[in-house]
Amino acid sequence: MKESMAQEAKRPLLSEGKKHPPLGEVKGILLPRTTVNNWDQIQKFKAKDDDLVICTYPKSGTTWIQEIVDMVEQNGDVEKCQRSVIHLQHPFIEWARSPQPSGVDQANAMPCPRIMKTHLPTQLLPPSFWDITCKIIYVAQNAKDCMVSYYHFQRMSQILPEPGTWEEYFENFINGKVSCGPWYDHVKGWWKAKDKHQILFLFYEDIKENPKSEIQKVMKFMGKNLDEKILDKIVQETSFEKLKENPMINHSTVPKTIMDQSISPFMRKGIVGDWKNHLTVAQNEKFNRDYKKKMEGTSLTFHMEI
Ligand code: A3P
Repeated sequence: MKESMAQEAKRPLLSEGKKHPPLGEVKGILLPRTTVNNWDQIQKFKAKDDDLVICTYPKSGTTWIQEIVDMVEQNGDVEKCQRSVIHLQHPFIEWARSPQPSGVDQANAMPCPRIMKTHLPTQLLPPSFWDITCKIIYVAQNAKDCMVSYYHFQRMSQILPEPGTWEEYFENFINGKVSCGPWYDHVKGWWKAKDKHQILFLFYEDIKENPKSEIQKVMKFMGKNLDEKILDKIVQETSFEKLKENPMINHSTVPKTIMDQSISPFMRKGIVGDWKNHLTVAQNEKFNRDYKKKMEGTSLTFHMEI
């Protein structure tokens, strides 16, 4: 483990004078202010039985699983998967930034069966989701790598607060002072929810280690049956190297006013264990002590390296 932050993190945080909007709050959970301002519409969203929802804590491999789901849905047809940028294919339920239509408006205008995405913790999900039998795919990533990815994302995101120094960010993350609230409660909440609802709970580390078997789980959960050749193609087409170069996936079409990828690319490293290049020995010890307390009593376990 390195004693100091990786070189890439030492670059200036953001161009001078740039102002980022502060977060708002719903029931103690920090969220983008535009989402908070649209909360009424989001909470009244009507889910349907044949909906499929991709759910993650931010920076846990959302885009990756979105493309896997799309490729399964399109039976491995690469051309069909290129029909539009990924964030237009799957409405982001809590997205609310005019002049673009809100995630709710996009979902309402979409033909069924719908595939959508959310980062909301269980307690903030629109209540209609709990009254129906829709399917949810949850992907979780270990907290240390998630924190590192989130830090670099906040450096380049122009719509989330500036992350401050790595030391400041570390404290904010472990105290849940980031958009979507504490990682710990998010993963524990969804882990518990899977016992009562149709939720396929996956781990980023497992997909990384054995993509084919995890994609097979997705396929079965979606009620599809694809042959080995197509599965192999999906593994290949959804690899980090492929997605990094794919303009429908790598967010290169997103304006700089939302994501400035000259600061840090959206498809940054795509590895397990990058936390070792960021957390100091002291931070790692502090993290582990705090983690033990916050994760006590749950059967949920993570691989911090593979
Ligand atoms: P890093 O910042 O660690 O590189 P999200 O889509 O939830 O915002 O998650 C983004 C993270 O998922 C980024 O992590 C990104 O590189 C990683 N990712 C995206 N596609 C991936 C793939 N095919 N394989 C591994 N990691 C991937």
